[in-house]
Amino acid sequence: MKFKDQHIISMREFSREMIDHILNVAEKMETIAQGKQKSDLLAGKILAVLFFEPSTRTRISFETAMLRLGGDVLSLGSVDASSIVKGETLADTMRVVDGYADAIVLRHPKEGAAQLASEFSRVPILNAGDGAGHHPTQTLLDLYTIKRESHLEGIKIALAGDLKYGRTVHSLCYALSHYGAHITLISPKELSMPDEIISDIVARGAKVVETDSIEDAINDVDVLYMTRIQKERFPDPAEYQKVASRLKVTMETLEGAKPELKIMHPLPRVDEIDNEVDDTPHACYFKQAFYGVPVRMALLGLVMGAIE
Ligand code: NCD
Repeated sequence: MKFKDQHIISMREFSREMIDHILNVAEKMETIAQGKQKSDLLAGKILAVLFFEPSTRTRISFETAMLRLGGDVLSLGSVDASSIVKGETLADTMRVVDGYADAIVLRHPKEGAAQLASEFSRVPILNAGDGAGHHPTQTLLDLYTIKRESHLEGIKIALAGDLKYGRTVHSLCYALSHYGAHITLISPKELSMPDEIISDIVARGAKVVETDSIEDAINDVDVLYMTRIQKERFPDPAEYQKVASRLKVTMETLEGAKPELKIMHPLPRVDEIDNEVDDTPHACYFKQAFYGVPVRMALLGLVMGAIE
């Protein structure tokens, strides 16, 4: 398996073998991620972090991952203070930044931006979200969380919320199809999972059902993966108002749930998980956010060729 110099653009190209390898490497990174062990695995390497959309976890966990491995981080800072406002194209930005760094983490509002960037960059591009497209590094940390906190093989999982615009769930569906997952898709009709993704993952062996109610699925699943309605992607704000706050997890929702149910969320949450749920053993989202660090350490080490 060769990760060195590879771009990480979408989960579609990942085999199960590749995913399992990354998760195994991540496991070995955990004590370094916690700061209990020092590492200089990426000493002398530079990661460029280019975010054309807001981010908290993805950006900071990539930066933490790089620093914990002894590497350095170069950040674009605010887009408003860069040459992008002068009209520089993404292609030109990539042609320049690849001379300054050993890998580039890119988040961009346009679907397909990471793919385009990879065609102009001589160093690996790690897609940290391209519009409503994909978010493969989030998926790897989601899988790592499921592996650590529940089980991957034959997992019964419900994905709830904005399945139309939510890039995390698009990527996650592809990956879950490698593990014989039973996937329940929960969304208002207006925000359902794109048909081409459903047919792709069914063809890859996933079992898929669709519903619009969390209560229909909650008693039977091992994992409930909640997502935020992606307000910024709605062409018409009135359409957002129609679906806002439609799906919520409260203590009441959880009454018939399995005791071992884990609730995940890529965060940020708006109002889709009640704060009271945070104190139950089901809540897994803050741990999930931490797992972003060992998983991104593994990815950086692999694409920069420091680990096989
Ligand atoms: C997600 C994203 O940016 O797609 N956040 C993240 O990376 N953890 C989810 C979201 O913004 O709703």
